[in-house]
Amino acid sequence: MKHLIAPSILSADFANLQKDIEMINKSEADWFHVDVMDGVFVPNISFGMPVIKAIKKHAKKPLDVHLMIVNPDNYISAFKQAGADILTVHYEACIHLNRTVQSIKANGMKAGVSLNPHTPVALLEDIIKDVDVVLIMSVNPGFGGQSFIENTYKKVIQLRDLIEKSESKAKIEVDGGVNLETGKMLLAAGADVLVAGSFVFKSENPSDTILQLKNL
Ligand code: DX5
Ligand code: ZN
Repeated sequence: MKHLIAPSILSADFANLQKDIEMINKSEADWFHVDVMDGVFVPNISFGMPVIKAIKKHAKKPLDVHLMIVNPDNYISAFKQAGADILTVHYEACIHLNRTVQSIKANGMKAGVSLNPHTPVALLEDIIKDVDVVLIMSVNPGFGGQSFIENTYKKVIQLRDLIEKSESKAKIEVDGGVNLETGKMLLAAGADVLVAGSFVFKSENPSDTILQLKNL
């Protein structure tokens, strides 16, 4: 299957969000990547339910919601109501990850688990069959526009291996510092979904940049 592109709206123009949403609707993008930050799990605050609801009203593609928050269990049904289609929690934020993943699925969403750059892929061994997406962070989460951590390629290869061995259907998504160069290498390593924020929205023609990522 061809790889998927998920533009991160963290880098969009928040004063003109509808315009950027329509651009993504018309582009070759597959998902909307939506970053939620609580100022506790990561040293930054982004936005919450009202903004996600507003995005959902216009979005014609699935909302891939990336939770960089502590205690995500408290908000699973609220994110469903706000419009999330895929809900990703951080491995590092979940004490009872199995319960959290089951709860996301019971709420009618696809379940994702994200790993910080320092968290080894091997820790997913006992959850990999239950998840729909693994989101590998290729920067320390919290901000757009950071540079790509090279160790990520190795992690993608290890994760592809784990997925094959365990007959899991999980997709490998990578988030942070993705551009045409890193994107190409990530696909060669086995990635299925590329998230791109600043590379798309800071470019002169975001829709064309999405197409270029899709054509990698
Ligand atoms: C970072 C977020 C990313 C961010 C990526 O914590 O999870 O989704 O928007 O931005 P770029 O592509 O600019 O690194
Ligand atoms: Zn993200």
